[in-house]
Amino acid sequence: MNIVKIRAVLSTTLLVVFIGVLFVTVGVLYTTKIGHPFLGMTRSQLFKVRNILGPVMNALIIVHLGVNWGMYRRELKVLLRK
Ligand code: HEM
Repeated sequence: MNIVKIRAVLSTTLLVVFIGVLFVTVGVLYTTKIGHPFLGMTRSQLFKVRNILGPVMNALIIVHLGVNWGMYRRELKVLLRK
């Protein structure tokens, strides 16, 4: 698999996990404020999902940053050029 495909797979996985994290965050806020389950999930169930998705997303971000590091360095050079 070439690097562009690897980047695309990683970024898409990151996007999917991010949508999951967003959903759980809204759910935790909802259950905290309203006190009812969010789409059938209690606050402790949402916390369990968050405790899985959070570390998965952090690991994906580290790999994502690693494969995009060269691109980022080139951008910084342009940004800091006098
Ligand atoms: C929802 C989470 C994220 C998504 C969906 C996402 C998606 C993308 C996409 C599509 C690219 C273009 C290159 C590629 O496909 O790999 C990219 C580039 C990049 N991403 Fe992300 N990204 C996310 C989060 C992050 C985070 C949290 C960081 C930093 C810690 C980061 C750092 C970078 C860097 C340094 C690049 C290289 C290009 C640039 O600097 O703009 N990304 N990202």
